Amino acid sequence: MCGIVGYVGQRPAKELLLEALKHLEYRGYDSAGIALLEGNQLFLAKRAGKVSELAELVSKKSSQATVGLGHTRWATHGPPTDSNAHPHCDCHQKIAVIHNGIIENYLPFKEELQARGHLFRSQTDSEVIAHLIEEHYDGTNLLEAVKRALHPLRGAYAIAVLAADSPDEVVVARQGSPLVLGLGQNENFAASDIPTLLAFTKTVVFLNDGELAVLRRHGVELVDREGRQIYREPQQIEWNAVTAYKQGYKHFMLKEIHEQPLAFANTLQNRYELGTGRIILPELHTLTDKIHQVQMVYLTAMGTAYYAGLVAKYLWREFFKIPIAVELASEFRYSKPYLDEHTLVIAISQSGETADTLGAVREARARGAPVIAIVNVAGATLTRESDATLYTHAGPEISVASTKAFVAQLAALNLLGFFIAQQRGWLSTGQTRPAIESMARGPTLIEQLLQKEHEIARLAQIFYEKEHFLFLGRDLLYPIALEGALKLKEISYIHAEGYAAGELKHGPIALIDAQMPTVVLVTKESVYEKVFSNIEEVKARRGIVITVTDSLNREIEHVSDFIIEIPQSSRWLVPILFVVPLQLFAYHIADLRGTDIDQPRNLAKSVTVE
Ligand code: G6P
Repeated sequence: MCGIVGYVGQRPAKELLLEALKHLEYRGYDSAGIALLEGNQLFLAKRAGKVSELAELVSKKSSQATVGLGHTRWATHGPPTDSNAHPHCDCHQKIAVIHNGIIENYLPFKEELQARGHLFRSQTDSEVIAHLIEEHYDGTNLLEAVKRALHPLRGAYAIAVLAADSPDEVVVARQGSPLVLGLGQNENFAASDIPTLLAFTKTVVFLNDGELAVLRRHGVELVDREGRQIYREPQQIEWNAVTAYKQGYKHFMLKEIHEQPLAFANTLQNRYELGTGRIILPELHTLTDKIHQVQMVYLTAMGTAYYAGLVAKYLWREFFKIPIAVELASEFRYSKPYLDEHTLVIAISQSGETADTLGAVREARARGAPVIAIVNVAGATLTRESDATLYTHAGPEISVASTKAFVAQLAALNLLGFFIAQQRGWLSTGQTRPAIESMARGPTLIEQLLQKEHEIARLAQIFYEKEHFLFLGRDLLYPIALEGALKLKEISYIHAEGYAAGELKHGPIALIDAQMPTVVLVTKESVYEKVFSNIEEVKARRGIVITVTDSLNREIEHVSDFIIEIPQSSRWLVPILFVVPLQLFAYHIADLRGTDIDQPRNLAKSVTVE
């Protein structure tokens, strides 16, 4: 993964790069480094640990440099040590390279370069790039040297390069890993994501795979891998940088949980007619013919986005007259599913940069299947590799554990399901109208749940020292049980498993004892009696039961040790409402355990390697 940033301009580069790295830290945070160019002098600083430790390392270094690179790492090749931190250099420390991605065939190049006398200082795959550039660089044309160095390399990369002999430029290149250019007044930027750039400029240019660019103070030059010049219209990004700051919340995760009413409302906004029940998604118009001929739907994604796909499967199956399957993108891609122009693939991703999801989409399109992407980040790679994109409008999500993006994905999937069903005549607008009316109440109901935060925090006080949790749900609450368990393990490091409640008796019941809390999700909407029996089964084994329910009654009160009550709603809102207390529960447990909530160990927000 990793986050990269490059700068050429007039401001003090050291401070600017450290600020940018703070924004990028969600992408990886096991080590960080910067390279600064002052005249022809290259200065390097890097160290294992977070960006704050790098900042400390360079705090006494006064620098006039206005050109530089910054990197924050998520280790793939070689442990997180000072020497494996980026930037990496050539033998003479005159060229500095930062890299996000994996060079798959680096080893033979490393061996050849070492045989030719190159001195390697790290165990990374990335360092070969610096030495290959060194071999091609004649001290004048850095762009050409980078282009040639990259030519034989396979894998994924977004790189930025500096050379002491080319003091006023940064060369960047992209193949399979995200990279965006930011254009300013007498200054230009490159970074792994848009929110990082927004602190400095709203004008961006997206780089496509196989493209390179040279950033200079007064402009940028784009070329393809043959060196042909490219002109691309810059785009204006609307996100306000302020929305990406914590705004008084202790963590981004808590802020983002509280932004869910807005994320949900913004994703629905202007996409339906309340009076008629008609869904309006002009972004899908180019696919109308294909939607009419579709005979099978695959939803594919990773992590939390995958669970959103699972929810959609349960909801859509009630009115779709064709089969629907949901698969992890990492499995889908290699499992050779039958795909043709009548198979619709829907890829869901907050970042739009997840390597597994992109891989699945490329495979699907190569075999003729139309692809719709559901993405949160404007202009992300997935949006450009799909036939159409339905954006979620959750705003920037910074916390590694996804919350508001999930709720926005569920909103977008509800709309998409209705849209397809209306197009195909499986649902009339009259039939969707009540569902839409109920969804319009979503933001108010989510707000009501957020008011229960104190109650949930008190529950967290009782349970935060437990080491194992079980989450049970059935039907459309099964994916929410999985998501509740995922949230808890991601940020609190507690072992938690999500199960389909009916599966309890086939294994997990053996785990239950007086120490093991079980969170049971039960809705009046479906299979109430069955799940109720599961609660009885847990209690009969002296298990502790926390019931989350929208159908509070004497029976449930009798068998539950603790209850979180959810407002009553329609099936379209049930998964959205049930997930909110589980997010808050995980958050408060993690807070009491003192973990690094926004940047949990070993994880990264956007997994751009397979
Ligand atoms: C990582 C994140 C998860 C996220 C998953 C998919 O594992 O830590 O929070 O759900 O990637 O990310 P995407 O950007 O594709 O939704």
